[in-house]
Amino acid sequence: MEEDPFIPERPHATTHTPWNKGLWISGLLLSFFLGVIASKLISLSLSNTFRTSTCHLPPASPDGDPSTGLPTDWFNGDCGSSSEVARYRGCQFSFVLHAWLPSDALSEEDMADEVLMHRGRNWPWALENGTEVAVESVRRGEFSHVYTAAEWHYVHCAYVWKRLHRTLRDGGNRRSKIDAYTSSFVHMEHCVKVLSGEHGGDGSGMEKSVVYAKFPACDYL
Ligand SMILES: *[C@@H]1O[C@H](CO)[C@@H](O)[C@H](O)[C@H]1NC(C)=O
Repeated sequence: MEEDPFIPERPHATTHTPWNKGLWISGLLLSFFLGVIASKLISLSLSNTFRTSTCHLPPASPDGDPSTGLPTDWFNGDCGSSSEVARYRGCQFSFVLHAWLPSDALSEEDMADEVLMHRGRNWPWALENGTEVAVESVRRGEFSHVYTAAEWHYVHCAYVWKRLHRTLRDGGNRRSKIDAYTSSFVHMEHCVKVLSGEHGGDGSGMEKSVVYAKFPACDYL
């Protein structure tokens, strides 16, 4: 019989061969495994994002603060850059670090160290012009900088390391925050110099030496 050109050709019926069925099943399996892999990748990238977001201390700046020569990441942190702003923000002054920190960055152990560090000591405290000031007002963080004996720095270094070590010990359980001063390698190098006698002085530990109030940024390690 002659085919009528005006009647459209009927589409060929699809043939269900066993091969097609196999392809369908393997496609299903493939998409299942791709789904598993994709969800693994998503959860991995999410956990990485979470991990990095728990520690964003400012990068240490190579340029010192113009007035003190100290690293710039020790200033303008969570507590501003003056004792007035720090108090207004509810920050606490650490007499171990000589720095203003948010109250959740200082643990009870930090506060206990403050007492231990100064127990039985009689270091002199004075302003730039030589006027002596009470240790209580220094402890309250009233001065931008004060002068004391070099020995204060030696003991301070040991207690800053104790705080750093405690944070490492407690790392991950978010018990205490770390700050850009405690974690500073610049400070570590300064301490090594001071304690190994490379910083000059007469070795008595009683040489006059300046201490600046710091305002470092803080975060969980
Ligand atoms: C020393 O400086 C402080 C603070 O600037 C000031 O109150 C005090 O009067 C000064 N003392 C002398 C002896 O100049």
